Amino acid sequence: MKHRYVSGKIRNEVEKVLGSAEAQSTDPQNLTTLFTPVSMPYVMAVFYEALRFYPPVPFEFKQAEQAVTLPDGTFLPKGAVVLWCPWAMNRSKITWGDDADSFRPERWLADGGTKVLSRTVSEFPVFNGGSRTCLGKRMAEVIAVQVIAAMAWNFDFVPADGGVDRVSKTSLTLPMEGGLPCFVKARTRNVDQYRE
Ligand code: HEM
Repeated sequence: MKHRYVSGKIRNEVEKVLGSAEAQSTDPQNLTTLFTPVSMPYVMAVFYEALRFYPPVPFEFKQAEQAVTLPDGTFLPKGAVVLWCPWAMNRSKITWGDDADSFRPERWLADGGTKVLSRTVSEFPVFNGGSRTCLGKRMAEVIAVQVIAAMAWNFDFVPADGGVDRVSKTSLTLPMEGGLPCFVKARTRNVDQYRE
């Protein structure tokens, strides 16, 4: 809603996929199955950029069950608690550059927008890492691409509160306080126009 050019670019990508040869032979009811992280690098980049700003697990902590020395030489005695903040790490200018505070999905793209860049888990710890990596990461990506593409393609969203800045609730999973009230209007298109 805030970045109109982003929804425009998502719709361009949807249009490209719907116009592809594969779409011609796909059941019109199942067209969203063509919306995948591989076929839609821009939508994936939008998802990652949204996760960068609003990581659903904004801070993390673990406790050492036994004394351990981390790979960088830091010694942790038994029982030590380590806390890190993905929310802050995701906004670090050292990692993301001077425009870290700008919502810019393009930062995730390479090769003329055809490839999504990956970041190390220490730079982008949104899905955690190592042996406790999120088991649903791939599932989240697949579903997010379908949902973002389908929603941007089928609807226009207008903020219902004049677009005031939203704040997060204090919580383990960063929900938006008061939700995101908006008016939703269906876009009228005819899917047959993408068929020969
Ligand atoms: C955007 C979506 C998601 C994000 C950002 C996310 C993030 C995370 C994070 C940060 C952890 C580590 C928690 C910790 O150990 O402190 C985690 C663990 C986990 N996630 Fe997700 N998650 C997402 C979606 C999902 C989905 C869709 C599923 C399952 C269908 C899932 C299943 C799990 C499981 C089973 C673990 C525990 C892994 C373990 O400790 O061995 N997640 N997730």
